[in-house]
Amino acid sequence: MLKYAGIQNPYSVGEYSVEKNAKVIQRYRYIHESLITIAAGQLPAREDWDLKVALGKHLYEDAEATDKLRKRLSHLRTSSQFVNRDPDPSLSLLMDELIQANNDLELAIGIYDVIKPALIQTYKKHIAETQQIVDQPTIRILRSILLDLEEQVEWGQGMITVIQQANIYPEGSDEFKEKLQSFLIAAGGIDGFQKKSSSLPHRWRSQKAYELPFKSVRDPRNMGPTTWSRTGVPNPPENQIQAELLDKMRVRQEEMTAAELIAGVMFSQKNMPWEFYYDLARHLWDEVRHALFGQAALEAEGIEWMSQPQYTSDYDINAHKLPGAQYTWLSIGIEEGAMARTGKRAEYEFCRDEAKHPLMTQFQDYDWADEVVHANFGRKWAPDLIGENIEFVREVAKKELDYFWDKVNAAGSNN
Ligand SMILES: [Fe+2]
Ligand SMILES: [Fe+2]
Repeated sequence: MLKYAGIQNPYSVGEYSVEKNAKVIQRYRYIHESLITIAAGQLPAREDWDLKVALGKHLYEDAEATDKLRKRLSHLRTSSQFVNRDPDPSLSLLMDELIQANNDLELAIGIYDVIKPALIQTYKKHIAETQQIVDQPTIRILRSILLDLEEQVEWGQGMITVIQQANIYPEGSDEFKEKLQSFLIAAGGIDGFQKKSSSLPHRWRSQKAYELPFKSVRDPRNMGPTTWSRTGVPNPPENQIQAELLDKMRVRQEEMTAAELIAGVMFSQKNMPWEFYYDLARHLWDEVRHALFGQAALEAEGIEWMSQPQYTSDYDINAHKLPGAQYTWLSIGIEEGAMARTGKRAEYEFCRDEAKHPLMTQFQDYDWADEVVHANFGRKWAPDLIGENIEFVREVAKKELDYFWDKVNAAGSNN
């Protein structure tokens, strides 16, 4: 059909008035935004490497979804005050309980077997039942979110099967799943349209607030122990340049610890503007991607990295600090510092001109581009978090770096 730019079914009255649409999109927004906090809070505590990686990717995709939904809400006669409110205490309870997942299996089931499949179902219904002309902007947004959700759920179902087959958690996760499902029903489903009962559900595990781990966790079954000093690759080559190249790959792979530090900041720093969490979601996923740069480069060389000791200093040494001090250490201390001629540019040029390694050259090229973005995030947000100007923040960063290297050097000399 060429009429209506191909929009189908133009004469039907849709299910959603502006007010009703704003109300449900506000719930969608709240769920995606909560999933960011939940993934951030859980990431340092989860064991399976592939699950950590996926939490980083999906957190970023949830942030993109949230950003689009927030923008759409602003077109539906809503105030920013409305958009920043939690829409429904029963929905809040569902999210409070999801973050209480005790292990990889529970978290994977909660996200990929309960919440996200329900989102898919609801968005398909919304797309089908809304007036196709008036609500085309929402349809377009939901379709793009569905692309991510369907990929995420397919990945998550595979992950759940793997964890179940490994029989790591013989006690199972049935009770957790049933509880979440009952909380979702009590909230009237994702869109709140199902009939609610007047007997509100009671808190279960969420009577106690979720706490971040003091030390980041690595899979005890498949990964080496955590360490505060870098161990490089096993049996490094004699050739200086080759040895330096492999060390670089390993340093990239160990950037998961930077992602975990950002996760901790995102989880514990409350009440910042949305743009802060949006920027840090990108920052976090970039650091996970950098870890994947290293993983891919090492695996392409046939180097076994997983059973090696795993460097976790960024998270572990900074975990007890205020979120502002943590973010200042990373974004100003480390990342702005890496903008020097001897920093990210030199790493890239080494891989291109000395090691002549095409894959690592490409990785370092993009790593450098990402770090430019991160240093800008630092200059944008660290002053806000510390409550002082950038010169003061740089002084803080120097002290935090000294503290950090003292701890790392002490750990190194104990080996
Ligand atoms: Fe990085
Ligand atoms: Fe970075």
